[in-house]
Amino acid sequence: MKKILKTIVAIALLTGVGAVAYMYSGLYDVSASTPHSGLSNWAMSTTMRASIERRARDVTVPELSDDALIRAGVNDFEAMCVDCHGAPGKARGPAGKGLNPQAPDLREAAQKRTPAELFWATKHGIRMTGMPAWGATHDDESLWPVVALMVALPELDATSYSELLASAEGHGHHAADSSAGSTMPHDHGVKTTNEPAKKEPEHDHSTHDH
Ligand code: HEC
Repeated sequence: MKKILKTIVAIALLTGVGAVAYMYSGLYDVSASTPHSGLSNWAMSTTMRASIERRARDVTVPELSDDALIRAGVNDFEAMCVDCHGAPGKARGPAGKGLNPQAPDLREAAQKRTPAELFWATKHGIRMTGMPAWGATHDDESLWPVVALMVALPELDATSYSELLASAEGHGHHAADSSAGSTMPHDHGVKTTNEPAKKEPEHDHSTHDH
C-alpha cells in the first residue's frame, strides 16, 4: 500500500516538473496562426460556455424589442464589434481575420444564447480569446442597446442592416465626450445613456459621431 502511494506521489511530482519544464522550453506553439487542437478547443469552449451561463443567471434583462433601442445600438455595434465579428453583409476586418479563436458570427450566437448571456459576454469579455470587456469603458445602459441589436441580428440581412445603420446616422452614439467637455448633443432617442461626466476616457469613436 505504502509503495503504491509513494509511486503516485512520485508520478505527480514528475508530471509537475515535466509541465514546468515544458512551459520554459518554448516547445508550446502560442502562434495565433496555428489552430488549437480539438482537445483544447473543446476544453476552452466548454469552460467558457459553462462560465457564461452560470454568471448570466444574475443578469436582469430589460425590454429589448423597442426599435429605438435597436437603432441606438447599431452605431456602437458597427464601431466596436464588426471588425472582429462581422455583420450581415460585412466580412470581418483585418484584426478579426487573424484572430484565434475566431470571433463567432453574432447572428448565430444570438440564436444560441440568451440575451442575458450576450450581455454578460459583452460586458465582461472572455479572457484569453481577444473578446474585450466592454464594461471597462461602458456602463450597462450603453451596452443594452448593443445587446438589443444583437438579439435583432438574426432577422437582418445585408440590406436591412445597412438601412438600419443609415437610419441611425446622425444619432451618434452614447459616447460622452469627456475629454472635450463637449456640449454636442448625442441624441439617439434613448434617454438613459446621456448623462454627462461618464467615466469613459478611452472611448473614442469620434469618426462615428455626428
Ligand atoms: C478584438 C476582437 C473582438 C471585438 C472587437 C469584439 N469581440 Fe466579441 N468575441 C471575440 C472573440 C474572439 C470571441 C469568442 C471567443 C471564443 O468563442 O472562444 C467573442 C465572443 C463574443 C460573444 C460570445 C458569443 C457566444 O457564442 O457566446 C459575444 C456575445 C460577443 N463576442 C459580443 C461582442 C460585441 C457585442 C462586441 C462589440 C461591442 C464585440 N463582441 C467585440 C472577439 C471580439
